[in-house]
Amino acid sequence: MPLVNVILSRRSIRQYQHKEIPRDALNKILEAGRQAPSAMNRQPWHFIVVTDAEIKKELSKWLFTKHIKDSPVTIVGCAKTSFLDRKWSTIGTSIALQNMVITAWALGIGSCWIGGFKEDKVKRLLRIPDKWKIVALVTFGYPAETPHVKRKKPIGKVVSFNKF
Ligand SMILES: Cc1cc2nc3c(=O)[nH]c(=O)nc-3n(C[C@H](O)[C@H](O)[C@H](O)COP(=O)(O)O)c2cc1C
Repeated sequence: MPLVNVILSRRSIRQYQHKEIPRDALNKILEAGRQAPSAMNRQPWHFIVVTDAEIKKELSKWLFTKHIKDSPVTIVGCAKTSFLDRKWSTIGTSIALQNMVITAWALGIGSCWIGGFKEDKVKRLLRIPDKWKIVALVTFGYPAETPHVKRKKPIGKVVSFNKF
């Protein structure tokens, strides 16, 4: 599929087949993250690949995270908060995560961004050091649903030329 069609056809997927993500596909997804641009090429990120059923169950206990337990893989995107990195690290880490989302979709693997987690609890559970923040969690898995197309704002409402 041409890349533009991959981007335009992507939907958040919250129901997954009981099927593992093969290691070579996971490697491609992670590599797409690793190759993302970052300010001064500082690559201020760390990605935790969660596959453990018990940890996924723990991460699923909030209203907006329930699908984590059914995903074969959930990736936790962490950004550095040190003086040199904190201004841009959230942006870089977000770009890397979205690179992963798009690459996954091109491989037939669905995903869903998750912002509805309790950062302090997840940091403790995954032993994330103090100087790191969690940007988002993203679930990955082969789709077991075809979600309806989400309504997006018309282009004229979100884009203007030259002046706001
Ligand atoms: C930063 C961010 C946080 C999100 N948090 C959640 C979440 O906590 N739980 C969830 O089910 N979906 C979450 N989503 C998915 C959005 O609900 C979804 O992207 C939106 O409804 C548009 O649908 P689409 O992705 O299919 O285009 C999040 C998306 C983004 C980008």
